[in-house]
Amino acid sequence: MKLQADYSFLLSGLLLAPSVGASTCQTPIDHPGPAFSFVQPLNTTILSPYGHSPAVYPSPKTNGTGGWEKALAQAKDWLSQLTVEEKAWMATGQPGPCVGNILPIPRLNFTGLCLQNGPQCLQQGDYSSVFVSGVSAAASWDRKLLYDRGYAMATEHKGKGTHVVLGPIAGPLGRSPYDGRTWEGFAADPYLTGVCMEETIIGMQDAGVQANAKHFIANEQETQRNPTYAADANATTYIQDSVSSNVNDRTLHEIYMWPFANAARARVSSFMCSYNRLNGSHSCQNSYLLNHLLKTELGFQGYVMSDWGATHSGVASIESGMDMTMPGGFTLYGELWTEGSYFGQNLTDAINNGTVSTDRIDDMIVRIMTPYFWLGQDQDYPSVDASVGALNTDSPPDTWLYPWQFTGTSNRDVRSNHSQMIREHGAASTVLLKNERNALPLRKPRNIVIVGNDAGPVTQGAYNQNNFEYGTLANAGGSGTCRFSFLSTPLDAITARARQDGALVQTWLNNTLITEKAMPDLWNPEHPDVCLVFLKGWSEENIDRRFLELDWNGNAVVEAVAKYCSNTVVVTHSAGVNVLPFADHPNVTAILAAHYPGEEAGNSLVDILYGDVNPSAKLPYVIAYNESDYNAPLTTDVQTNGTYDWQSWFDEELEVGYRYFDAHDIPVRYEFGFGLSYTTFNLSRLAATGSVATNLTALPEQRPVQPGGNPALWETVYTLTTEVSNSGSVDGYAIPQLYVGFPDTAPAGTPPSQLRGFDKIWLEAGETKTVTFELMRRDVSYWDVVAQDWRIPAGQFTFKAGFSSRDFRANTTATFVRDH
Ligand code: NOJ
Repeated sequence: MKLQADYSFLLSGLLLAPSVGASTCQTPIDHPGPAFSFVQPLNTTILSPYGHSPAVYPSPKTNGTGGWEKALAQAKDWLSQLTVEEKAWMATGQPGPCVGNILPIPRLNFTGLCLQNGPQCLQQGDYSSVFVSGVSAAASWDRKLLYDRGYAMATEHKGKGTHVVLGPIAGPLGRSPYDGRTWEGFAADPYLTGVCMEETIIGMQDAGVQANAKHFIANEQETQRNPTYAADANATTYIQDSVSSNVNDRTLHEIYMWPFANAARARVSSFMCSYNRLNGSHSCQNSYLLNHLLKTELGFQGYVMSDWGATHSGVASIESGMDMTMPGGFTLYGELWTEGSYFGQNLTDAINNGTVSTDRIDDMIVRIMTPYFWLGQDQDYPSVDASVGALNTDSPPDTWLYPWQFTGTSNRDVRSNHSQMIREHGAASTVLLKNERNALPLRKPRNIVIVGNDAGPVTQGAYNQNNFEYGTLANAGGSGTCRFSFLSTPLDAITARARQDGALVQTWLNNTLITEKAMPDLWNPEHPDVCLVFLKGWSEENIDRRFLELDWNGNAVVEAVAKYCSNTVVVTHSAGVNVLPFADHPNVTAILAAHYPGEEAGNSLVDILYGDVNPSAKLPYVIAYNESDYNAPLTTDVQTNGTYDWQSWFDEELEVGYRYFDAHDIPVRYEFGFGLSYTTFNLSRLAATGSVATNLTALPEQRPVQPGGNPALWETVYTLTTEVSNSGSVDGYAIPQLYVGFPDTAPAGTPPSQLRGFDKIWLEAGETKTVTFELMRRDVSYWDVVAQDWRIPAGQFTFKAGFSSRDFRANTTATFVRDH
């Protein structure tokens, strides 16, 4: 006899949360700046919603277009067997072994869905690997690395029974370097982040695991990401609502949505709607965002899940396009989880009384189950490893209501041989910022001084959620925290290498001692050949960074060492942007930004330091001279106590990252795309291949939307080639980059240079290769807010190729559209 699903255990203690939320739109917000708001029905033109989110209903149904047709039919078939109650719980998370859980339905042999963090590893995985962080992967500018990393990470997840990896991340994009989570994501540039998203997603899903593009959208600060609530645990009234990211239509399309379009095109299984409000309306009940932009314009065929506790209504969220609430069985009030759900039993009731239509709930389930069938997760999928449940801090075993059963071995070792790959990825992600007097690579130094609290072993366990004083930082805090099975520290790896050379290694790991006392013994018994200074910069979810300097008095540590040591090499392990005031110090001969490189931190660094690997990584953000040089400050406080007073106005519009510095000619210390090598490269002759299409239509042909949007946007319209040569004496990888300057006919505010192509090519010393850049229609278009489409402007474009956003070596021009 087949077991019927029995949800009676879930009926007790349900919070009677309001299942019918407010309308998706809130009152338009007063704003002294250039804000304006238009409310237009969808079937007429929607003009730049800024400060307001127009209502767009109903939620579009999936049709499986783009390759999911067969899986869609399987999902529909499966759906036809469900009871109303089962449907409701398919859309509602429950406490369980994974960070997010959808209940099993034993009578259908459905073992449920296991959703796990995160973007750098399996958060709850013992005997699993810690890969390079998102920011590191982006710094590699290496498509294959991104794919391989995604594939390998997902393989480990699968081995532990994960169906859905909660990543990768395109939001935060890095509007402000102070955001606490930029390291989980990729680059402060939509094009590079878009490539990173696409490669990672394809890699993960090729391994048979669903990927999740998060956090949708404009999730650019942690401060007030969630509402504050009255102290009463059951209160549902806000003291103040979560911050609203107020973004105009053009900026939304050209900056924040751009990489998510790549994710949709890569057939990502799910999106996670974010904590923040967008233009006044919660992201998870913003019908303009989910129904119009995501499910209509981008043609997304999968499901939208909430971030954990980002659901603030029942029916309103459902009608606005959200398909799954997480963690579901609990609701987050401030920092307090309260038992109960806007979905669950409330959703069962809403279906039964017709408040939620059968059409809508059925589409929710079909959207959830289509990727499951598409990836073959119904066939011989590994069971959830019991050990992940024991390690789950989000929903520890004593919170589980459902009697979860475990099969298969526990504490499975899923690491395979990934550490070798992670070591290579770490080296490929380490950016060489300064290298004078041939400081690097090291040439068998005999007397090495190792300085700084980031050099040595972690002293507070394998799973660090705090900025502990001692230990190398290879990952950081929040849901992206990893559980290290092993960590190669710089101290271990350098010492092992130095022993081969018979070198002396002296260590000074206490930053306080270093800065408070001079180091008379530093060069004992003779002046050191090199002083390697290790600095770290912590960052974490839920808290934004307060400063951009290195932690633990890092600048003073460098000064203290460089005062005596004429060959001081600084290595940073940090989230991303750090201002580096010591960079001009004449005794600081080299600087390496190693970001968060994962478990092979030490070994991958030794490969670079000793020249076994020639550095090739490039900055995926700008390092300015001063903190005050950065624009787009976070909203860190409000002086008033109105419910909706937390507002973040994205008034800088397209001037995000290097786009801002370039538009205002602000000098920077190290520009976007910059990074040194042990060799030198030249680039010459940038030219179109074949004849240039000068007769393109300004607007794309209107084709049936596919995942990613109108397929005409993704077609190559222009191909350029250039010659890149290795002009030095060491073999290595070059990363040629292509930037576009739009014609003057593009609307005001168009950035002077925008990345539109790059490649990573191996060149032996003296070798020359041809590099090809293929530009798609989207690459040479801007978002026309009146036409509500991507428009190629008339007039002459400039294409600039080189080795960074400020190092162009060859230009060419082209015109695609003659008339307005
Ligand atoms: C909140 C975070 O924003 C999200 O990235 C994560 O996946 C969930 N918590 C689950 O831990």
